[in-house]
Parts: sequence; structure tokens; C-alpha cells
Amino acid sequence: MCGIVGYIGSDLACERLIEGLRRLEYRGYDSAGVALIDPQGDLWARKRVGRVAELDDAVFDAPEAQIGIAHTRWATHGGITEPNAHPHLDATRQIAVVHNGIIENMHALRQQLESEGVHFRSETDTEVLPHLIRKFYRGDPVAAVRATLRLVRGTYGIAVLFADHPDRIVAARLGSPLVVGLGEGETVLASDPQAIIELTRRVVYLDDREIAVISRDGVKVERLDGRTRDADITLIDDEAYGVADLQGFPHFMLKEIHEQPESIQRCLRGRIQGEEGNAKLGGFQMDPRALVRIERVIALGCGTSYHAGMVGAMALESLARVPARAEVASEFRYRNPIIPRDALFLAVSQSGETMDTLGAVQEVLVKGGHVAGVVNVVGSTIARTTGKGVYVHSGPEIAVASTKAFTSQVTALMVFTLMVARTRNLSLDAGRQMARALEELPAKVHAYLRDPGPIQVAVEAVTEAPYVLFLGRGFSYPVALEGALKLKEIAYIPCEAYPSGEMKHGPIAMIDQGAPVLFLAPADQHRDKNISNLKEVQARGARLIVVHTEGDDELAELADLSIPVPAVPDYLSPLITVLPLQLLAYHAGLALGRDVDKPRNLAKSVTVE
Ligand code: M6R
Repeated sequence: MCGIVGYIGSDLACERLIEGLRRLEYRGYDSAGVALIDPQGDLWARKRVGRVAELDDAVFDAPEAQIGIAHTRWATHGGITEPNAHPHLDATRQIAVVHNGIIENMHALRQQLESEGVHFRSETDTEVLPHLIRKFYRGDPVAAVRATLRLVRGTYGIAVLFADHPDRIVAARLGSPLVVGLGEGETVLASDPQAIIELTRRVVYLDDREIAVISRDGVKVERLDGRTRDADITLIDDEAYGVADLQGFPHFMLKEIHEQPESIQRCLRGRIQGEEGNAKLGGFQMDPRALVRIERVIALGCGTSYHAGMVGAMALESLARVPARAEVASEFRYRNPIIPRDALFLAVSQSGETMDTLGAVQEVLVKGGHVAGVVNVVGSTIARTTGKGVYVHSGPEIAVASTKAFTSQVTALMVFTLMVARTRNLSLDAGRQMARALEELPAKVHAYLRDPGPIQVAVEAVTEAPYVLFLGRGFSYPVALEGALKLKEIAYIPCEAYPSGEMKHGPIAMIDQGAPVLFLAPADQHRDKNISNLKEVQARGARLIVVHTEGDDELAELADLSIPVPAVPDYLSPLITVLPLQLLAYHAGLALGRDVDKPRNLAKSVTVE
């Protein structure tokens, strides 16, 4: 979604800002812009609809400025147009603002400003900010920003330039992340550490209701209410952010699919205790006596992370015998949920910035509940807000479609399940078996990816079809949901997922001659039931693409197209059966000419509601 970069130092600010924007491109956006203070003390700004490359072409005449702010916009208020792109300037062109988030009371603020004679040039909520800051400006940038933010309802991460203060950028946040990177004689601001990682690993995260004054020598942070705070420096690690490089792959999505043996391995590293048939996740800050007191687990997440939470909840219930369920965070947060004292909530999120998941976490915390994060991005808002949990360590996921983060989330939830299960009725022997099965997983993922089966034939079947149905039972149902989500978001093919047994209560009406049905039927406890369901759709003319366990000849013969996968225990099957579905979505998207890494309308990190 929207991205912010700010730079102050001795280099050409425009170049550094464009570089930063490029590193944020993966988040999804539709227009981009930059504002600089030139050596004469004037504001210079340029915006373009489309890619950062187009902005780059348009800034050929940028002044030799050493301070500036830049933005990639993902439209919320107002269409995808140049006037609506950021930065937004006040009428005197002395103040420039970039903004992530949503100003909810923008109509009232805009009406008031218009009645005072202010002329608006865009349809955005953001434009009220430069005009309000102008209104309150008496020579003190922080005082003007603070007075403005007192009037604002909603969420923001902002960066502000004042033409008459070319020595500072003022930034503030509420609900939209901002991080300051400290270099030697230069300082960078960004909404995502990915934009600054090449400059420095030394960062200061802003918290909600904080305001920062960024100069080439560093950063000064204050609370919006005037209290000061020490700017604690955090060292971010390379593994978490690494350089976003295709390493020979044509797309990040394909690269990330193929990284899964290593990303799963990283998630397991140092956490499995094979001899004890147990695991250790120190980040939960829970010893066995605390674990045994958990009476239920509720996983909260959105999209793919919700599907991972569903798998984790099933594992916790079946292996640890703890009542568990997953909930869509955007629904949970607004239904005044009951927060049982003995429940552990798990906030599952790749980015750690998803607004709906963060909102759900805050609701749990307000009600005195107990919540831990299952997060990929180190230092992200959800990780810092929960203060405990597990990093899934999948490494940076750049493609908008989540692939390796899903398998790492599921792996982390399985490790957690093993820990909880060992405090209950999982025996030492069964614990050892589970530990071994987890340790064997990366090799099985690798084996499948080396020889993925007839994916291209499946691609032909789904790209020619008006509708695709995904079916699965038990642990395979969340995988069916995940496969359908992937195919929708990457290939834009209409599809849906159903529990196999539920299919005859409605979706079977969609099946006619040749309709592709993607059936997940690993050799688990549901295998025989699945065969009956499979025959029911086959009898109605469906073209069956079946993902099944290697060596299951009966299923291979029943299928019109058989995709065999390595054998694993039931609870680990999602980590294997999801792989062909990821490849199917990728290759179908490619065959249909889609932008597979940046599908239309989507953003990597959904930081608005
Ligand atoms: O960063 P998060 O895991 O919290 O993001 C949640 C969803 O927005 C995300 O999984 C989305 O559904 C992906 N595009 C799926 O590929």
C-alpha cells in the first residue's frame, strides 16, 4: 500500500528518494511523487500516475537538493490521478506533505477550510493536512503539525517539509508505521525498513502519537502531548530484510515459492528438541506451567494469514486437544468480542502491519486479553504491540501473493502446537515423531518442487474455464481456500473453495461438462470420504485435477490429471499440498499475461481498513 520515504544528507535527495520508492514498489501502488527543497529554499514537486520508473523519467530536471520526501499512493479517497498523488502542498507552496492512512473527518475539515477561502486541488483526504498546517504555522514546524494532528481523526504516518526549514523533516504517526534510519551524516525516513536497509541497520521506530524531527545528524522524538522520549536505536538484521533481488528468477513469486525449503528450515532452526520430543519458542515467554493453563486458542488474521491460522487451530485442537479456532480479524475487531481470560490469541501476519489484524490485537489488549504475534517482519507494529510470540523468519516476501510466508506461518504454528501438546496428552514417543516429521519437511518440500508434476496441463484447464472449484476436507480445507485465493489474486479467474462434504449443498450446481475441480485428497483420515465426493463431481462431468499422496494409485487413476506429492502426516499436509496450488496460480497468471508480482488493485501490506 502507500509508501513514504524521506531523505536528508549530503547526496542528491531525488536519487535517494527514487531508490527508496523502488524498494517499496512491491507493496502495491498506483501513482508516485516527490518534493524537494532546492538550494534557493523553494519547494519543487513532481508526481506521476503509474510506476516509479515514470516518475524517475519525469525528474530529469530536479534541483540539486539534499532534502526531500516521496510517496507511492494506493488510491483510497479520489481516483488514480496526478492531482490526487502525493505530495500535497499548501496554497503558498511552502509546505509539502506525504501521508499514509486515512483522515476520517476529512469532510468536516475540508468544509471548514473551504469556508475560510482555501481552494482544494485534489479529492484526497490528505490535502487537508498541508492547509491546516499552513493555518497553524507561526514559524515553529512541530507546533503547527501538532496543532493539526489534534484536529484529525483517523490514521496517519506523515512526513512534512517546510521550505523555510531546509534542515529538517517533521514526521508523525498514528496507526501507520514509520521508521527512521540513522546513517553517517544522513538520515532516512520510511514507512517500511525495506526502503532504508541499504543505507543503515540502525533504526528508530516511531510509536503511535509520536512526532519526530529528522535532521542529517539524527532524530529527536517527542510524544504528541509534548512529553519527550529517548530515541532507542534498534539494529535490524539482514536476514529479515535482505536485498530484494530476483537471483535469476523471472519473478519474486516464483523465487519465493522455490525458497520454501530454506524458509521452512529457518523457521525450525534451533526450535525443535528432537530427543525430548518437544520444541522451544522462547519468544512466547511461557514455560510449561503457563502453557498448560491455556484453555483455548484463537488465531486472528486476514487473507493467507487467516488460512494459516485455520491450519494452526486445527492442529492445536487435534494434537494438543485445546479448543481452537481462527477468525477473520476485520470481523472480529468490530463485533465486541468476548475475550476469555484463559484464552491465548495469536495475531498471524506476514507484514505485521495489517490494519485489521492490528485493530483486533488492540481490541484483545483493551479487554485485558493475552495475545502473541506470529509475524514475519521483525520490528513491525504487530510484533511490537504484542511484545511476545514467534517470528516466522521466512525472509523478505516481495511478491504481493503470500507463498513462503504461509508455509512458515504454518510451520511456526506446528512448532507451537508441539510445545502445547507436550504439556497435555502427547507422549514422548509421539512428540519425537512429530519433531522428526517437522525436521524432514524441508527435504520433502524440496523434493516436490524439483519435480512438481503436470502443472502446465492444469494451467490449460483452469485458464480456459469460466469457474474453478477447489475442494478439500479437514486440514485440506484451508489449503483449498488458499489455492482459490491465489488463483483469484494472481490470475483473476473466478473460483471458490468449499469443504468437500459441503459441496453437494450448493456448489455442485456449478459443475457441468469439463468444469475443472481442484481436489485436495492426501492420504489422511478423510481419504475415503474424499473419494466418494470426488466421484460425485466426476459423475456430473467435472474435469478432476487431484492432488494426492505419491503411490496412491487409486486416486491417480480416478483423476483426469494427477498431481502426486510426498507423504507426510495429516497435520503437515497443508505444507505440501499448497505447493502445486501456488505454482498453478503463478503459471496461470503468467499464461494470462498478468503482472504476477503486483496484481491489480492489491497491496502487499494492507494498512487501511
Ligand atoms: O501481512 P499479512 O499477512 O497480515 O497480510 C494479510 C493479507 O493481506 C495477505 O495474506 C493477502 O491475503 C495476500 N495478498 C495473500 O496472498
